[in-house]
Amino acid sequence: MKIAFFSTKSYDKQYFDLFNEGHELRYHEISLNPTSTELIKDETCVCVFVNDNLNAEVINALAAKQVKIIALRCAGFNNVDLGTAKAKNIKVVRVPSYSPHAVAEHAVALLLTLNRKTHKAYNRVREGNFSLEKLEGFDLYQKTVGVIGVGKIGKIFINIMKGFGCKILIYDIVQDPELIQKGISYVPLNELFAQSDIISLHCPLNPQTHHLINDSTLKLMKDHVYIINTGRGALIHTEDAIKHLKNGKIGGLALDVYEQESDFFFTDHSSDIINDDVLMRLMTFPNVIITSHQGFFTKEALTQIAHTTFANLKALNNTGVCDNEIK
Ligand code: NAI
Repeated sequence: MKIAFFSTKSYDKQYFDLFNEGHELRYHEISLNPTSTELIKDETCVCVFVNDNLNAEVINALAAKQVKIIALRCAGFNNVDLGTAKAKNIKVVRVPSYSPHAVAEHAVALLLTLNRKTHKAYNRVREGNFSLEKLEGFDLYQKTVGVIGVGKIGKIFINIMKGFGCKILIYDIVQDPELIQKGISYVPLNELFAQSDIISLHCPLNPQTHHLINDSTLKLMKDHVYIINTGRGALIHTEDAIKHLKNGKIGGLALDVYEQESDFFFTDHSSDIINDDVLMRLMTFPNVIITSHQGFFTKEALTQIAHTTFANLKALNNTGVCDNEIK
């Protein structure tokens, strides 16, 4: 099969070349957009990532180019207009799980860094400043951790936090009897907001979860709440979060994702003027840390992404169906 890759980075090329099963791969660094569809020659599949925008216009252009498959090399599919894809008879497959451990562990890394200020301590000590002033954190032991979305990643995150001796509260639209059996409490969302010292977001972005963290839900939370978002940027209304960082309601905010991330993330902008005042304001807070959507970024996950993507294409090619197809 001929496959056109978009938003390709060196590590994508490295892993997809390594596990290629005889396909013809054409890599493009540019993201997929109405103009870059011009780059598609005779490929019948496009392979895309989280910040490629597959809206109706792009999908119509793909259909005109005879593209039959959109292979997402990620789990989330909020960036694909599935209705148009279906109308155009284009199959959409994804990698539902590459390494939930990678993302859950990154969420914990963000929490620990934010709380114990290891990023500041690292710089301080290297400059010969051995003062502890302003580095005070808090014990995670016995703190209440609210987890929203308890799927593959959320479950692993819970297990790690239980290891710290935290009390866990969870909210999900479906209840898993196994978790109830383990004594973990499902609570209504408002209760989770009111009782949690730390809130971690692990649900998908969809119309129900869009701006789930906003001015009114933030007002329900404890003062100095810590919020960790490794889900999707638009789970948080960023301007509202800034308001509550300024008034102290939010004690710490760790983001691996940001609503407007597609303009910046995954690319070096260190010599550019960043024309996003919201992102720049966020970066001025001492109690905010941002990583550039790197939760997934482990060698295990990159291996799994390449393997599953090729397996998806093989299944569609051989049988016309694939377990990882998004209907
Ligand atoms: P999953 O599908 O296993 O779990 C998602 C859970 O969220 C499910 O239990 C589902 O019932 C629940 N959910 C759905 N709608 C909800 C709602 N309205 N309120 C509360 N819960 C709801 O997905 P997985 O693998 O755990 O991934 C979760 C999210 O993490 C993905 O959707 C994606 O956005 C994000 N992600 C981030 C990565 C990163 O590098 N930062 C990498 C991979 C995923």
